[in-house]
Amino acid sequence: MDVKRSYMTIGRANREENSFSYRHGKLVVFPLLIIFCSLLISIALGFPEVSRLNDVPQGFDARLRATSERYEPGTNATLVQNAKIWTGSDHGKQVIHGDLLLHQGIIKAFGDIPKHILDGIDKDQLTVLDAKGAWVTPGLVDLHSHIGVGSSPQLRGAADTNSLHGTIQPWLRSLDGLNTHDESYRLSIAGGVTTAQILPGSANNIGGQAFVIKLRSTLERSAISKVIEPPHTLNGTTFAQSTPPRWRHMKHACGENPSRVYSATRMDSIWAFRQAYNEARKIRDAQNAYCTRAKDGDWEKLGEWPEDLKWEALVDVLRGRVKLAVHCYEPVDFDGIVRLTNEFEFPVASFHHAGSAYLVPDLLKKVYGGAPAVALFASNFRKKREAYRGSEFGPRILADNNIRVVMKSDHPVINSRYLLNEAALAFYYGLPANLALSSVTTVPAQAAGFDHRIGHIKEDIVVWDSHPLTLGATPVQSFIDGIPQIERPVVSLKPDSFQELPQTPNFDKEAAETVEYEGLPPLATRHEEEEVLFTNVRNFWVIEDEEIVDSFSVGQSTRRSLGSVLVQKGKVTCVQNAGQPSCINQENTDSMKRIDLEGGSLAPGLTTFGSAIGTDEIRLEPSTNDGPVFDPLQGPIPKIIGEDGFLIRAVDGLQFEGRNMLLAYRAGVTTAVTPPTGYGFAKGISAAFHTGATNALEKGAIIQEIAAFHVGINKAGAASVSTQIAALRNLLLSSAVIAHVASVQGEIPIVVHVENADIMATLLRLKDEIEAQTGGKLRLSFAGAAEAWRLALAIGKADVGVILTPSRSFPATWDQRRILPGPPLTYDTPLTVLFKNNVTVAIGSENEYDARNIRFDLAWRLWILSGCPGI
Ligand SMILES: *[C@@H]1O[C@H](CO)[C@@H](O)[C@H](O)[C@H]1NC(C)=O
Ligand SMILES: *[C@@H]1O[C@H](CO)[C@@H](O)[C@H](O)[C@H]1NC(C)=O
Ligand SMILES: *[C@@H]1O[C@H](CO)[C@@H](O)[C@H](O)[C@H]1NC(C)=O
Repeated sequence: MDVKRSYMTIGRANREENSFSYRHGKLVVFPLLIIFCSLLISIALGFPEVSRLNDVPQGFDARLRATSERYEPGTNATLVQNAKIWTGSDHGKQVIHGDLLLHQGIIKAFGDIPKHILDGIDKDQLTVLDAKGAWVTPGLVDLHSHIGVGSSPQLRGAADTNSLHGTIQPWLRSLDGLNTHDESYRLSIAGGVTTAQILPGSANNIGGQAFVIKLRSTLERSAISKVIEPPHTLNGTTFAQSTPPRWRHMKHACGENPSRVYSATRMDSIWAFRQAYNEARKIRDAQNAYCTRAKDGDWEKLGEWPEDLKWEALVDVLRGRVKLAVHCYEPVDFDGIVRLTNEFEFPVASFHHAGSAYLVPDLLKKVYGGAPAVALFASNFRKKREAYRGSEFGPRILADNNIRVVMKSDHPVINSRYLLNEAALAFYYGLPANLALSSVTTVPAQAAGFDHRIGHIKEDIVVWDSHPLTLGATPVQSFIDGIPQIERPVVSLKPDSFQELPQTPNFDKEAAETVEYEGLPPLATRHEEEEVLFTNVRNFWVIEDEEIVDSFSVGQSTRRSLGSVLVQKGKVTCVQNAGQPSCINQENTDSMKRIDLEGGSLAPGLTTFGSAIGTDEIRLEPSTNDGPVFDPLQGPIPKIIGEDGFLIRAVDGLQFEGRNMLLAYRAGVTTAVTPPTGYGFAKGISAAFHTGATNALEKGAIIQEIAAFHVGINKAGAASVSTQIAALRNLLLSSAVIAHVASVQGEIPIVVHVENADIMATLLRLKDEIEAQTGGKLRLSFAGAAEAWRLALAIGKADVGVILTPSRSFPATWDQRRILPGPPLTYDTPLTVLFKNNVTVAIGSENEYDARNIRFDLAWRLWILSGCPGI
């Protein structure tokens, strides 16, 4: 990145203002109508409309803007001093050291702030913040979010993402379902997200209109006051037609999801689109003909103005006035959309999810009006067939092909608080740093039609505690419309190295292979090397007596030579720390494979817990999975299974060589512990197994046939919580089978999948009760455990383990709502609280795809844990 110090005025326009022209008719009859017609004609005669509409609305001149219409009177001006400002300019390569002045809802200046500007501000209303060299970026823009419409915690009374009343519904508006009390607003702002496009769901081909909102709460507390430049169509179709148009937004979806409304095939989907667009086209053409008659003064034949409230939004799509977001995964789906846009001549602003987009960059460029931006997840793939070929290398491959890349959350699918983490992961897997930062700022702002005010240093900013592409980068403060959003931000000190762009591996070969094999490069285990010598090893950790110990570590600053480790036939046979005799002798130099770790580390393999890895391959494809188990609380158990004493063992349903499993293995996750897939009370017995094994018969494939006995207890179960507890009590006290496998003798632990602190309290009481009755000791752990931190002392005293899953909590359900969010909202995290109370803690993953990322999850929190016992 270029680092320069210079003075920049704000919003120096880098684009032509307003190519959109209004011709005011001279006729005095029906003046509004004439103006409207001349507007339509100017568009209609000049297809493609997209080239005539400009992202900057008429009258919006950033250079002249003294105040934002969103400014809330009484807000202090803020002077952020001594910042490293990533501006978003020059393709995301420009960095400016200096100050930054927020005033009246806009950023007045940055770099060296001219004295006359500062002198004009009342010192009693100026907050000064010394950033001490911290990174500052524009507020993050999430192009794909369901914040507010799919509420958190999820409640039946606020499930407004998908209407199931039809597949073509351009008349619906996400704004009408925007819950203003969603817990996520505060959390996502604490992750630096300041703006989000709120899309309807993908259960329909046309799910409805989307709205771009700022996440902060407003004085008015209304949904509409969150919307940026609300389109005039929102509160009546009789708005003054002479008003300059404002961008509208709409969601389309193709592929698997729209089949939810009625069992539609892909063929039905594209026909549904064509039928809808044909309706809109007829209206648009009739309007144009009407306007031609009006312009020609042909008043007698003028007739009624052709319009239809249901189709007006889609007519606007044809007029290029709508930024379309199209959910599409596969080449066949992109192909259908390419044909649709060319048949009806309308542009697409962004493709979403787009798992296989990286395989067809040239096809994307055939979309009418040019290639859309492509909005992706970093790592959330393979959970359904159409996502199976998705790749972590997708973002960089698309960028290599000059396609604009957006990283998005699909909140709450990915908690948008960690949107920046998606960009950091894309960067890790090869997306250049400038484009990775642009993918959550300038590019989504442009795709939404709002880069005249967001995505750049213009309105909203975030001050970061570290370089934004380091793992765990956390805001020190987020400003929206000039208003600081985090009341008492907690800032943790990080090592100086976190202020620099991290180094990443070179994945050129892997990316090329991914394209060569169309998303499914071979991953199977390679043959075992007889002898491997690891050189330039900085740290070497081993397990001794169930503890991880540091065999040797060479400090970062030392100039001493690094160590080497020799592995022969899978066993470490020689460790050479600096100054010790070499591991290499005459005999073993020839056949030996050498791996230069370039200062890296060797550590024991990691263990993943919590997903269906090993039992499920493609989560939403039943034929690829072991399948769910019977739940005795949901219905009678067939006699042949053993009625209520039955126990299902995951080991009997394991499958090896799955893609999630092999990717996890390649990421250092060598062991998985997986229970059978049970969605209710009953789960069964988990197995521990080796993720690199080829089948269950292979030596070492099954590490522990019976790892733990699992049950799930939550408020959304088939029976009441009290019934679930009664069932567990009954099982533990009277079932011969359970007494045999589990628990009271202390042999096999019981893992209760539980989120809620009150249920955990009941379980701790149950543990006492059982132990008092039987005289034994119950080995108990809680998995999930979002609220465990609230009972940390009691959990520690009871010697109950906790597998925190996910490691960064999110209030997805009511049971999970009392999370401890961590910096910048709280100093502590659940992990720090549990550690301080001597609880044995592990971290888990919810999703199969995520098993490979646990080292990142761990590193996210390590710097904050370093004061804790046991670390
Ligand atoms: C506004 O700035 C003044 C002067 O720095 C300060 O005393 C005051 O606390 C600030 N108000 C707010 C709401 O931050
Ligand atoms: C319609 O919305 C606009 C933009 O929010 C607002 O300025 C206008 O007053 C509203 N009009 C009515 C009739 O509510
Ligand atoms: C945790 O263990 C340490 C060391 O045994 C002890 O000093 C401390 O008091 C314990 N903390 C709690 C909350 O039990």
